[in-house]
Amino acid sequence: MKKAIIIGATSGIGKELAIILAENGYLVGITGRRNELLEDLKKKRTGAFITSSFDIADIKTAIEKLNELTIQLNGLDLLIISSGTGDINEELNFEIEKRTIDINVSGFTNIADWGFNYFQKQKSGHLVAISSLAGLRGSRHAPSYNATKSYQINYLEGLRQKSASLRLPIFVTDIRPGFVDTNMAKGEGLFWVSTVEKAAKQIFTAIKKRKNVAYITKRWRFIAIIIKQIPGFIYNRM
Ligand SMILES: NC(=O)c1ccc[n+]([C@@H]2O[C@H](COP(=O)([O-])OP(=O)(O)OC[C@H]3O[C@@H](n4cnc5c(N)ncnc54)[C@H](OP(=O)(O)O)[C@@H]3O)[C@@H](O)[C@H]2O)c1
Repeated sequence: MKKAIIIGATSGIGKELAIILAENGYLVGITGRRNELLEDLKKKRTGAFITSSFDIADIKTAIEKLNELTIQLNGLDLLIISSGTGDINEELNFEIEKRTIDINVSGFTNIADWGFNYFQKQKSGHLVAISSLAGLRGSRHAPSYNATKSYQINYLEGLRQKSASLRLPIFVTDIRPGFVDTNMAKGEGLFWVSTVEKAAKQIFTAIKKRKNVAYITKRWRFIAIIIKQIPGFIYNRM
């Protein structure tokens, strides 16, 4: 039986991925801060889930909990980091920016490194993280969200390069959603908003194919190509 951990499985994309993995025969460690939601999910499919509640911004506890969870699962093949945060911050309130950095940069890096080191020791494994299309350019509305997602994209590329240089079958998949219908989809003028179910299904396909990068839904790939090409002098006026 394959073993997976999902960081951020209490709601949204992470929760839906947990359900899909369980349906596909995985034993899944589900995490997040809201323990009652983890327990609700556990009740839905007997024997499929093991819960562990912690805040990824608490660096030391996160590692202790992941070590415990991996022992309970009796192994690990797949680690998915879905936890993330982001807020519109027109006033540049530093508290919002700091919280975003604590979760999307420090918390993310702590877990990605833990996972990579685990897989390196094991000589195999698959690390998946949900970054965002937002990581491709800056944003005046949510500067820290886009910047931290850009960090994640770059960090995952670094880990992918590291696994290639180690010549180990450790796969690193960067999932870049456009808009998915969850609490995270904030702001005006949202378009091509995917259902969580459709997004999770496409993410699972990308995982099975061990893709390096996947845009969710697929058509966001075209927006990504366009966004990257827009010259700075035009982008600054958008
Ligand atoms: N929805 C979109 O349009 C969209 C687009 C691009 C990228 N994404 C990315 O997709 C990922 C999942 O978001 P979602 O759309 O599924 O939204 P969501 O339903 O709000 O899920 C966010 C998840 O992150 C967890 N989380 C947040 N802060 C945490 C912390 N300090 N410690 C541990 N877990 C924490 C939450 O669990 P608890 O609150 O229980 O801790 C929850 O499970 C995020 O990384 C987001 O940036 C989403």
